[in-house]
Amino acid sequence: MKKDLLMWDETIFRDPEVLEIDYVPEQFEFRDTQMRELAFQIRPGLRGGRPLNTVCKGLPGTGKTTSVKKLFTEIEETTKKLVPVYINCQIDNTKFAIISQIYKKLAGHLPPASGTSFKQVFDAIARILIKDEIVLLVALDDANYLLYENEINKVLYTLLRSHETYEGTRIGVIIIISDLDIDISRAVDARVASVFLPTEIDFPPYGDEEVREIMKARARQGLYQGVLSEEMLELVVEQTLKSGDLRVGIDLLKRSALAAESEARRSIERDDVCKAYAISKYLHLAGTVKTLKDEERQILKVLAERSTRENEMNAGDVFRSLKELTPIGYTRFYEIIRKMDVMRLVNLHYRDGKGRTRIITLRYEPEKVLESLA
Ligand SMILES: Nc1ncnc2c1ncn2[C@@H]1O[C@H](COP(=O)(O)OP(=O)(O)OP(=O)(O)O)[C@@H](O)[C@H]1O
Ligand SMILES: [Mg+2]
Repeated sequence: MKKDLLMWDETIFRDPEVLEIDYVPEQFEFRDTQMRELAFQIRPGLRGGRPLNTVCKGLPGTGKTTSVKKLFTEIEETTKKLVPVYINCQIDNTKFAIISQIYKKLAGHLPPASGTSFKQVFDAIARILIKDEIVLLVALDDANYLLYENEINKVLYTLLRSHETYEGTRIGVIIIISDLDIDISRAVDARVASVFLPTEIDFPPYGDEEVREIMKARARQGLYQGVLSEEMLELVVEQTLKSGDLRVGIDLLKRSALAAESEARRSIERDDVCKAYAISKYLHLAGTVKTLKDEERQILKVLAERSTRENEMNAGDVFRSLKELTPIGYTRFYEIIRKMDVMRLVNLHYRDGKGRTRIITLRYEPEKVLESLA
């Protein structure tokens, strides 16, 4: 057997876990400022006080979830008096579901599925908090899922005004959001706003050099030496930057390595990365589309449908066909297009002619976009 071929029981993965997208990396650089700010916000909670409320904001794949999860691990290693509860609002997006998760964290099991009222569960939570002198810190990740049917107000009202009903309870919240447009302080009503008063922490996209460092560290941990050459690393970095989403890069490493392994090779080749990218890039599409609001989804749908016929779309034409479907002003329409450009869903450019024409192209195949909207 040739030396550069793998034996059937050999692998090029040093630690496959490291290349899973929900893996919380040990090495977590370029987010020191945000981690420090988060630590500052929760500090009162370590002394029995109410943590300051926080909003973490940034585009998909900028390390928001990871930062909060790391903070929570540190808290749990330090104290039992401040209990962090992480809620994924994509899964738990009603007041009752969220309160049930909090109960589970404190009591060790979910409340009985039927016949339990919201009040009973919250009563039980408050009893535990008071008896054990516990301060609660609740992270609502992907909180844009709570913006429908006023759920955000119901949840925040319950948590932040709990001390009015249950004296001695202290609860702080961290809201995580990947929609840059949403101004949470304005989305909440006055009764909530007066007790919410959050500090906002921004998570800007990683730059070229940062993406390179992060990918390099991941590859070093996840793959054996020599599997990913400098040249292939560059290719991975380049593709990751195209989507602006680190998740694409991590998935790319995993898929290219699997491809190399399936052909019993010891190193990743250009073709592995290119083939993997054809799949990994949709991670960003799916991740971004899930954060869009109804109006934005409708615009993206119109763009995708038109793109099946014309690759380059004139913004004015798109607007006119959209207006037949929904009452929307040009300013708002254009704002959304600009946002989609920032999110790397579309490219927006200008063409000089009679005045400047605004041209939109989709960054993904229209069929894939329509699929992601389905
Ligand atoms: N500074 C970093 N160093 C190493 N890995 C990172 C870093 N930032 C993010 N990652 C990795 O990138 C991926 C995406 O990060 P994360 O889930 O924290 O992003 P997010 O901002 O919560 O995105 P979304 O808004 O889509 O939920 C994760 O796999 C995470 O491990
Ligand atoms: Mg996240």
